Amino acid sequence: MSVSEKTLKSANRVRQDKGFRRKVFTSRFFQRLGGGFLERIMISFISGIQLRSLSALKSRNDIEVIRRAKKMRHSLLLGSECFSILSMARAYAKSMSGAIAEVGTFQGCSARIICEVKDEAKCYLCDTFEGLPDLHQYDRAIHKKGQYAASLESVRDVVKDYPNVHFVKGFFPDAAQGRIPEDERFSFVHLDVDLYEGTLKSLEYFYPRLLPGAAVVVHDYSVLTGVEQAVHEFCDAHRDIIFFELATTQAVLIKPGIVPSGSESDEKILQDD
Ligand SMILES: C[S@@+](CC[C@H](N)C(=O)[O-])C[C@H]1O[C@@H](n2cnc3c(N)ncnc32)[C@H](O)[C@@H]1O
Repeated sequence: MSVSEKTLKSANRVRQDKGFRRKVFTSRFFQRLGGGFLERIMISFISGIQLRSLSALKSRNDIEVIRRAKKMRHSLLLGSECFSILSMARAYAKSMSGAIAEVGTFQGCSARIICEVKDEAKCYLCDTFEGLPDLHQYDRAIHKKGQYAASLESVRDVVKDYPNVHFVKGFFPDAAQGRIPEDERFSFVHLDVDLYEGTLKSLEYFYPRLLPGAAVVVHDYSVLTGVEQAVHEFCDAHRDIIFFELATTQAVLIKPGIVPSGSESDEKILQDD
């Protein structure tokens, strides 16, 4: 049994136990109690602590990029989650020639962080810009339709200084038709749509368009039941995928790739043989 199969099997077990019910309860509690307000205070409090401790370990410049983006636009991402996105978007933009995409841009905080590090790479920012679409039963009514509506103009403003940024407005992936060229290939995707259907359909859209070795980071995998369900269904149908969780709420899916021949790792494998 592969490592990712084992991880998924244990994740499936977790889904049936008390932890799963607690997850639904906690997410619903924060959504209902504050109507978003409590969620906002919690995120800003925890992010503050996280960024303070990260600043002792990571580049001061990177932490400043995150702080500035969070100051400019409200975000549902914690400080440590912003750091994962920054670090991965930069690495993939440097090592692969494909485009970058984000589905679930909201007010543009994570989009700005990606734009800061992507250099010249093409970047597609995708959102309904009218908030969350219809919920599925797997989403357990944790959110409401229309929640997190944000204006495209305000996101455009927050990324106006960066080159090669394109907007895709509407339900993804339907909205991609005619707006993202069919032959576009991606190196890195940030998926943050909160819901089952959008997560599953976006994974199905991007997977054949990912370059070998490219990554998709899925936000809220550990806290939203619909997102978790979508990732499991997708991984069950694509057994070759490399799947792992980060110490945050994020999960990473990597499309298997071929290590370029003559690389250090190839030589090491040959020596070990
Ligand atoms: C939690 S917010 C994203 C937060 C954002 N990444 C940040 O930096 O704070 C979720 C967003 O996903 C969008 N969304 C959900 N389902 C979608 C879909 N199928 N297509 C396009 N946008 C979607 C919503 O409009 C909302 O703006």
